[in-house]
Amino acid sequence: MLNRIVKAKYKTMETSLISQEELLLEFENKINAEQKIEPLDWMPDEYRNHLIRQMSQHAHSEVIGMQPEGNWITRAPSLRSKKILLAKIQDEGGHGLYLYSAAETLGVSRDQYIQWLHEGKAKYASVFNYPALTWADMGAIGWLVDGAAITNQVSLQRTSYGPYSRAMVRICKEESFHQRQGYEIMWKMMEGTKDQQEMAQDALNRWWWPALMMFGPHDSDSPRTSNAMKWKIKRETNDHLRQKFINKTIPQAELIGLKIPDSNVVKLSDENYQTSDINWDEFWKVVNGNGPCNEQRLAHHIKYHNEGAWVRESASISNPK
Ligand code: 3HC
Repeated sequence: MLNRIVKAKYKTMETSLISQEELLLEFENKINAEQKIEPLDWMPDEYRNHLIRQMSQHAHSEVIGMQPEGNWITRAPSLRSKKILLAKIQDEGGHGLYLYSAAETLGVSRDQYIQWLHEGKAKYASVFNYPALTWADMGAIGWLVDGAAITNQVSLQRTSYGPYSRAMVRICKEESFHQRQGYEIMWKMMEGTKDQQEMAQDALNRWWWPALMMFGPHDSDSPRTSNAMKWKIKRETNDHLRQKFINKTIPQAELIGLKIPDSNVVKLSDENYQTSDINWDEFWKVVNGNGPCNEQRLAHHIKYHNEGAWVRESASISNPK
C-alpha cells in the first residue's frame, strides 16, 4: 500500500537506530509546535489511516456532490444562472482533484480509493444522498451545503497534515463564491412571485437538516473526534462547527424572509441560537447507505468511471509512470 518513495524512507528508518518511541516523540513535538506533518515524515499508522479515511471521503464528497447540481445545468432558468452553475460544478471537480492528489501522498493510489468507494468501504457526505427537486434546490445547496462545507473547511486549513492544509486554502477561496451564488438564488426567489417564495421555502425545509448532518455525529458519539483533535487533524469539534454554522445561517434566512424548519429555534443572544436536535436515526440510515439517492449516486459514479476508463488509459500511455 505504501508507494515507492515512502517505502524507501521507511527502509532507511528501519535500518536507523531511532526507536519507535523516539519517532513518536518527534511526531508529537511537531504537532505540539504547530509544524505541518509532511508526506515523507514518520507518522503513526493510526494518524495515516485516519487521514486516509477522512481525506478520501472528503474527495469522494466533492465529486459525488457534482451529481445533484449537474442534473440542473440543462434546466437553469437563464444563461447567467447556467454559467454560474457550470463554473461551480467545475470547481467541485477541481476540489476533488486537489483532495485525491493530497490523499495519494499518504501512499494509497487513487484507483484504490475509487475501488473502496465502489465497494462501499468508503463514504461521502450523506447530504448528497437527497434529491434536488427544483431550481430552488440549487440555491439551498449552494447556500447551506457549501456554507456548511466552508465552516468545516476554513477550520481544516489549520489541519496538521501539510498537503491537506494546503488543499483547503485553495478550496476555501472558491467555496465562498459557491455559498454566495446559492444565497443569491434564494434571495432573488424570495423577492419573486408567491410560487417562487414557496419553492425557496420548500427547498430550505428539505436541505436544512441534511446540511446540519454534514458536521457528523455529536462529539460524544464520534469514534474519531478525540484522535482528530489530539493530532490536530481537526481544530474544532463537530458540534462546535455545527453551532457556528447555525449561528451564521439563521440570521441570513431571516434577512430574506425564509423560516428555519424548526419550531424550537430560540435566540439565546446575538448570533447564538438553540435548535432542536438532529434526527440521528435518519442520519445513520443515510450514512449507512439507505438514503433516498444512495444507490443512484454510487451507480452513476461507477457507470461513468467505467465509461471514462479509455481517457485514463490514453493519458497513462502518453504519460508512462
Ligand atoms: N456523511 C457521511 N458519513 C459520515 C458523516 C456525514 N455527514 N458524518 C460521519 N460519517 C461517517 C464517518 O465517515 C464514519 O464512517 P467510517 O467509520 O466508515 O469512516 C462514521 O460516520 C463515524 O463518524 P465519525 O465519528 O468518524 O465522524 P467524524 O467525527 O470523523 O466526522 C466528518 C465526519 C464531519 C465528515 C469528518 O470526517 C470531516 O470533517 N471530514 C472532512 C470534511 C468533509 O468531508 N466535508 C465534506 C463536505 S462536502 C463538500 O465539501 C463538497 C462541497 O462541494 C460542498
